[in-house]
Amino acid sequence: MSKSQDEIIRDRARMEWSAAAPGWKKYGKDMFRWMAPISDQLIKSAGISIGQTVLDVATGTGQPALTIAKIVGRNGKVIGVDLSPEMIEVAKEEAAYLGLTNKVHFQVVKDESLSMFSDNTFDAIVCRNGLMFMPDPVKALKAFLRVLKPGGRSSVTVWSSPDKSPVMRAVMKEISKHVPPDLEKLPSTTASLGTSGGPFSISNVDMLRDYFLKAGFSNFNADKIEVTVAQTDTAEQLWQAMTEVTGFLVLLLSKLPEEKKRAIKNDVIESLSKIFPSGVPVKFTGELILGTGTKPVVKENQV
Ligand SMILES: C[S@@+](CC[C@H](N)C(=O)[O-])C[C@H]1O[C@@H](n2cnc3c(N)ncnc32)[C@H](O)[C@@H]1O
Repeated sequence: MSKSQDEIIRDRARMEWSAAAPGWKKYGKDMFRWMAPISDQLIKSAGISIGQTVLDVATGTGQPALTIAKIVGRNGKVIGVDLSPEMIEVAKEEAAYLGLTNKVHFQVVKDESLSMFSDNTFDAIVCRNGLMFMPDPVKALKAFLRVLKPGGRSSVTVWSSPDKSPVMRAVMKEISKHVPPDLEKLPSTTASLGTSGGPFSISNVDMLRDYFLKAGFSNFNADKIEVTVAQTDTAEQLWQAMTEVTGFLVLLLSKLPEEKKRAIKNDVIESLSKIFPSGVPVKFTGELILGTGTKPVVKENQV
């Protein structure tokens, strides 16, 4: 039986992020530091506090789940789910290292249905940089809504336009010179980044609002936040880190011959060196959309 488009998108995401899991383990401490401000804003926006039961969807190597586990305290509980078994393995190792295994539990999922959870289970749900990779964000958000308690909030961050990220723009431009947008041969190319399941598939506030409202959330609000998701001393260091942690890049480069990879690297570094002159920190900056919705409370006389 041939695979549905949704399954193809999921398979690609699983492959890309599983391939990037060793890189996420290697750069774990740096990434935690770089991305902590995003977690802090998500946690605040979702209204997470002591004693709550919280779900972190697309948790990857465990963030923000592990940060939240420290906030919810002894009587709270956090569950992190992700498509990639390799990412979840690193998350479990990190939970053990931090002594948090009694408070946070990680689980691999096969799709976005959250079918293992009963209705009205969670006080809050977060999803840091994951929703845009899902084949059907409305369906995914409907599942968030089902497992959320009435009055509970769900907060997500997604990338806005790649134009807001000078590094991403430069990288995509250089790669597209070397890699034809041939989706048959490559699991992912720069041409597919903005399409369904790509990193920029929910790149404006109106789209995100529409998805939340279609899923049944109320009180939607969104903020745009400027973020620095990586910072290194040289362009070469930044490119090296990107080739190990950026899902689509890890998989894309693994399909290319050495000389092609070298040519891309040289062009990217030259291009980044124009943006960041020698001696200046090389920063991967960009814009995220932080969106939050509330599960409506149905009053008895409305039932
Ligand atoms: C950019 S990483 C973010 C990981 C983590 N939330 C963080 O911010 O550090 C994206 C994650 O989304 C996961 N993912 C992609 N598609 C998914 C899906 N359909 N269901 C669940 N997780 C998914 C990937 O496996 C990957 O771990």
